[in-house]
Amino acid sequence: MFIKYIVVGALAFAMLSGCSDNSSSNTTASAKVDQSKSSADLGKNAIQVGKDYHSFANPESIKVTHLSLDLTVDFSKKVLLGTAQLDFQRVDPKATQLILDTRDLTIEGVTSMGKVINYDLANADSFLGAALTIEIPADANSVVISYQTSPNASGVQWLTPEQTAGKKHPFLFTQAQAIHARSFIPLQDSPQVRMTYEAIIRTPKELLAVMSASNEPDTERDGVYEFSMPQAIPSYLIALAVGDLHFKSMGERTGVYSEKGILNAAAEEFSDTESMLIATEKAFGPYSWDRYDLLILPPSFPFGGMENPRLSFITPTVIAGDKSLVSLIAHELAHSWSGNTVTNATWRDLWLNEGFTTYLTYRIMQMIYGDERFEMEAVLGRQDLQADIDSLPANDQIMAIDLRGRDPDAVFSNIPYEKGALFLRELEHKVGRENFDQFLLGYFEKFAFKSITTDQFVNYLEQTLLKDHSAVLSKQRIEQWIFQPGVPADAPIPESYAFSVVDEARDAWLAGSIQAGEIDSEKWVVHQWLYFLNNMPEKLSQEQLVDLDKAFSLTSSKNNEIAHSWLLISVNNWYQPAFTRLHDYLTSIGRNKLVKPLYKALSQTPEGKVMAQKAFAEAKAGYHPLTVKTNEGFVQ
Ligand code: BES
Ligand code: ZN
Repeated sequence: MFIKYIVVGALAFAMLSGCSDNSSSNTTASAKVDQSKSSADLGKNAIQVGKDYHSFANPESIKVTHLSLDLTVDFSKKVLLGTAQLDFQRVDPKATQLILDTRDLTIEGVTSMGKVINYDLANADSFLGAALTIEIPADANSVVISYQTSPNASGVQWLTPEQTAGKKHPFLFTQAQAIHARSFIPLQDSPQVRMTYEAIIRTPKELLAVMSASNEPDTERDGVYEFSMPQAIPSYLIALAVGDLHFKSMGERTGVYSEKGILNAAAEEFSDTESMLIATEKAFGPYSWDRYDLLILPPSFPFGGMENPRLSFITPTVIAGDKSLVSLIAHELAHSWSGNTVTNATWRDLWLNEGFTTYLTYRIMQMIYGDERFEMEAVLGRQDLQADIDSLPANDQIMAIDLRGRDPDAVFSNIPYEKGALFLRELEHKVGRENFDQFLLGYFEKFAFKSITTDQFVNYLEQTLLKDHSAVLSKQRIEQWIFQPGVPADAPIPESYAFSVVDEARDAWLAGSIQAGEIDSEKWVVHQWLYFLNNMPEKLSQEQLVDLDKAFSLTSSKNNEIAHSWLLISVNNWYQPAFTRLHDYLTSIGRNKLVKPLYKALSQTPEGKVMAQKAFAEAKAGYHPLTVKTNEGFVQ
């Protein structure tokens, strides 16, 4: 393992700020990294680069290389039960213990070569779970763990038939990133451990199981499904879903799985997936994962999407009828390169996954839908980034963030995404698109099927782009982007001509020179509406809100993103005509990005809190554990 020490705090700040010439930070005085620690503390406080602070596992001694699951899905008890066989290699020939991660698992026994062996399950840490230490016989190279999950497993959501679209059959899905695989499989739950896997999943006969592995859409529905993932992947990409699923092909290598009711709408909405796949391969190198299918989940799925290999998991909230929100598909597809092929070694390095992916997403959108769409999305992304820079503490604005002692779920922000993408766009602008694309091709090839740290990336940059383009790139500037808060001065500024007409309309309306109905908005696309709403002043009068709603029927907008922006404005200005829709929205959608800002805004006033409590109480049983965890603080 590539353990190297770096310092955080005063020294790092001094090192970096001292040597920036053309790159003064435009962050405010409060946006400085913590300088309070004396240099004597720094030795102790150093981050071990490459150390995974979110896993108890010991891959430096014994490394798991293959997983074989045999699990029964028991909907009545809401548990998965069965066995996990882990094959391992000794990195240290003298190693006698295999240490795994678990959370809320009941371990029934461990065997190796047919014999019962000893193990110890430690007391649980509040968010890391409990280490499972297994005593390994000298000649063993695999163990079999019999176990079952808890009905409250943090990485599994169990839906009753009433909570599905079809209302007839139950549904189950897992969501492992960042550290939830351990709540449904005992394993080395660290992104720097890659393993191949196979699985037998036993379900009620009428249901279909799918995984982030080889899937057979035409397989007989007999309740026993077999999978194999022959490429080595990190644990956070292991995924399973079970339900009354059906399949529709969208192209040679692409298709969609979902409940029957939305299958056609989904296949229609995402019909450009095959073209996206072809364009991305052409620009950034071969797709390594055979097929690329989508699984559309029930609306309680807590994310927009999750890049489970060969089968991205997708929220149904982006099925807008006009492909306006399909950048999500480009994003999850792009992870097939940045994330699934080249993987962050620790959660501190998440920006290597999400920043590269966000950059690639913009590029894919430009290739498929053209410059105007690309520019609008880039401006909206830059605004999301600015909102976080304006509100997050300085340390949380750092791409290579110090996550020691923190739950990764609690640190979700636009920083690794949009700041990462902006950084890469700056590199692209400095060296030219052609050179940058060559660099990306080389990067994906060099680190294919490896898990890498930020430091390894910086070293690679030094050996490649930085060496070839030293006149326009400097290491200091790169380190400022990665290790400092804020966005460096002179960073690229995304611009969109399509938005200037929106600015003009909004300004005229705010000045009172025109009524909302007089705005020439007939040809506006969803992005223009989002830009129109997201840039309203914080306070609007009731008359203004009524005028907008009357002219544009915003309260009944069918687009979930537009509805979100409007509902947020409505909460912040106590616009009561929107509150029935708000309640419906909060009780029918569990995607955190859409509901969290609403709960947060409601929690600011006593009357709002009452509404939030009512919606949360009604929705809680149908929310994913992560959505519950993220929002329950707002209703207490
Ligand atoms: N891999 C992420 C989801 C994730 C990140 C889960 C970190 C847990 C920890 C996925 O690719 C993602 O970024 N989803 C975004 C998509 C959006 C940026 C287009 C989402 O769900 O909002
Ligand atoms: Zn992502």
